Amino acid sequence: GEEARAGRALLDWYDRQARDLPWRVSPARRAAGEQPDPYRVWLSEVMLQQTTVATVRDYFRRFTERWPDVGALAAAADADVMAEWAGLGYYARARNLLKCARAVAFEHGGAFPRTAAALAALPGIGPYTAAAVASIAFDEAATVVDGNVERVVSRLWAVEAPLPGAKPELVRLAGRLTPAQRPGDHAQAMMDLGATICTPRAPVCALCPLDDVCAARARGIAAELPRKAPK
Ligand code: ADE
Repeated sequence: GEEARAGRALLDWYDRQARDLPWRVSPARRAAGEQPDPYRVWLSEVMLQQTTVATVRDYFRRFTERWPDVGALAAAADADVMAEWAGLGYYARARNLLKCARAVAFEHGGAFPRTAAALAALPGIGPYTAAAVASIAFDEAATVVDGNVERVVSRLWAVEAPLPGAKPELVRLAGRLTPAQRPGDHAQAMMDLGATICTPRAPVCALCPLDDVCAARARGIAAELPRKAPK
């Protein structure tokens, strides 16, 4: 149906336009059989919560050079990790990062659990991070919903109900778009689309791979969505 067609158009776009980010395996390398490292996916997703891609790049490089795998991070001194984190903000994330690394290293034999449900049981991993790691690293068809995805979905279906009330509906619709094949690339394609084309104030619909199926675009209201309930 319509969703399957939109999903394919999005993956075709991602194959051509994916941002080159240090925690990613490019679509070409993936096609050749390379799997993303769950440690790098997890670390990047924790850093990317509340911090921009531009800022995260250098922190991610320094962390992974110093602590190349989850065992190394688990063995790090708290003070060293907090010092490397300085400037990223939200320091509870760094403390939870260490707790999670130690749980994986010492309670899971150094291997990240492979499902969103099992990942969500680790310290500091919420539904977003669990779904992101499960889909990107382990190909589970989990639906990943962050602010970018909410915006893209609200526009595709022209959801006029305001956030936060509309959130469950947006999650449901995002799930309809999530493919069984390449769910991790799909999730990252949604994030890239939201970050580069389906932007909050001035979406560049002329460059969008989904412009012909976008209900908000057809009605000329893309820039107005998602609506937000007055505080
Ligand atoms: N924001 C959060 N996770 C991301 C990812 N994997 N790629 C790009 N932007 C993101």
